[in-house]
Order: sequence, then structure tokens, then C-alpha cells
Amino acid sequence: MTQPFIELNNVQKIFKQNKTENTVLEDINLKIPEGQFVCLLGPSGCGKSTILNLLAGFEKPTLGEIYVDGQTISAPGIDRAVVFQQAQLFPWLTVKENIQFPLKQSKAEPKYIAEQTEYYLEKTGLKKFENHRIWQISGGMKQRVALARAWVMKPKILLMDEPFGALDAQTRILMQETLTQLWQDNKTTVLFVTHDIDESLLLADRIILMAGHPGRIAEDIQVNLPRARSIENIAPQQEFIETKKHILEIMRKEVSRMIDYIH
Ligand SMILES: Nc1ncnc2c1ncn2[C@@H]1O[C@H](COP(=O)(O)OP(=O)(O)OP(=O)(O)O)[C@@H](O)[C@H]1O
Ligand SMILES: [Mg+2]
Repeated sequence: MTQPFIELNNVQKIFKQNKTENTVLEDINLKIPEGQFVCLLGPSGCGKSTILNLLAGFEKPTLGEIYVDGQTISAPGIDRAVVFQQAQLFPWLTVKENIQFPLKQSKAEPKYIAEQTEYYLEKTGLKKFENHRIWQISGGMKQRVALARAWVMKPKILLMDEPFGALDAQTRILMQETLTQLWQDNKTTVLFVTHDIDESLLLADRIILMAGHPGRIAEDIQVNLPRARSIENIAPQQEFIETKKHILEIMRKEVSRMIDYIH
């Protein structure tokens, strides 16, 4: 078998607060091939963001190993870009300057910077707003800038933590389309956290359904819906209906188990 691109082996994460220990992740085993679009889906608190933080190198596992492209992760790196729910941008810079920032930091050639910035301004529909300051643009446009700034560095992995969670429904659909197009052009490996089952079925090749207390993988679901997908063309399909029903059943069971745990 070829080596998986991302590999989590028996990962456990315990957070210590004062004298209490909170086992947030237990026995996480996951192998992801290069170029796959993976959604992490699961109830609040089941450790989705913690998995992304471990892959980003912001946190270290308590036990177990994490490999990306055969290397152990020890720190954040430009091979892994992170996009959060609230875009982390520089408000005093323009849209264009924000997108260029990481390329300038990495001392890329000016010609390359100019070409790549143009390409991603076009791809994300931001060309008309390139000279706007961040405080002058909407939340949806800020997320477009965050997307462009992540893709422009051509990371090996894109880690996205509910990137569209704070957007209105219409903007969200447009952002899902933009993201899908960027992914189809580049085939970067994506780990995308969401609470939205429809969104996961629209975007993912594979859904990792998580459960809580402690956080673990409840199910690993392949999504074989043909691409290009839109919510109106996938929603009537049998695979969509059955997978959504299956996910809802597991989630309902897990949420009532978590409520029992809390009380
Ligand atoms: N740095 C930290 N220190 C202590 N506890 C933490 C830390 N980060 C996360 N936790 C705890 O770990 C658990 C899982 O948190 P995490 O943020 O990974 O969940 P999540 O699945 O992303 O939830 P949500 O859907 O609400 O974003 C929670 O109980 C949280 O309080
Ligand atoms: Mg989270």
C-alpha cells in the first residue's frame, strides 16, 4: 500500500486544567491520501478543532503520532494553511496587500507575486475590491480574502475550521462554490470542519463523523456523489438522502449520550 499523505496513529489529547484532566481525543486513527477533501462533522466539543490544531502544529498530541508526507509535525509551517470562522486579516492593509502578504514574507519573486495575486483575486471574485481596506468589506468578502491568502501559498494541506459558519445562507453557497472550484483546480488536501450535514455532502469525498466524551471517530463515510455538485442536484439523489438520514441517526444517538454524560 502507498504511504498515506496524512496519518494519525493512536492519537490521544488530554488537556490539564488545574488538577483535572480532560481527555478530549482518544484513539484517533486516520489515514488520508493526498488531494482528498475530508469533512470533520460532529457535535460541539467532540474535538474537531483540536484535530485541526494538532495538524496545524499549534498543539501536540499527549500520545500517538501525526505524520504529514512522512514527517512528524512539530510546529506550524507554511505547508499547512489554516482558515478560521473569523477571517484573521490585517485591517490596515488592502485586500490585495493581505493576499500578497505571505508571498512577500517568503521572499517570492515580484513577478510571481503579481501573477499569483492576480490569479487569486480573479478566482475569488475580489478583483473589483483589490484596493479596499479590510474594514470596508463584508464578512463574506473577508472570508474570500482569507481563502485567497491561504491558497496563494500553495499549501500541501488546507485546514478549515467552520470557515463559512458565520455567513448568511446565500453567501455561504457562493463560498462553497468558490472553494470547490479552487480545490478542483489545485487538488490540495483539505480538512474542513463543519456542523452542517448538507455542506459536508456537498463538499467532501469523505466525511469523518465524530462523537464526544471522549472525542473519537464514530464513522468514516465515503461520499460518491458525482461532481460537479450543487445542493439542488445532489439533494434528490438516493445517496444524499440515505447518507444524511444515517448521519442524523448517529448524531441523535450521540447527542443524547452526551446529554446523559453531562447530567
Ligand atoms: N487549549 C485548550 N485547553 C483546555 N481545553 C481545551 C483547549 N482546547 C479545547 N479544549 C477542550 O477540548 C474539548 C474539545 O474542544 P474542540 O474545540 O476541539 O471541540 P469542537 O468539536 O471543535 O467544538 P465546536 O464544534 O464547539 O467548535 C472541549 O471540551 C474544550 O473545552
Ligand atoms: Mg471547533
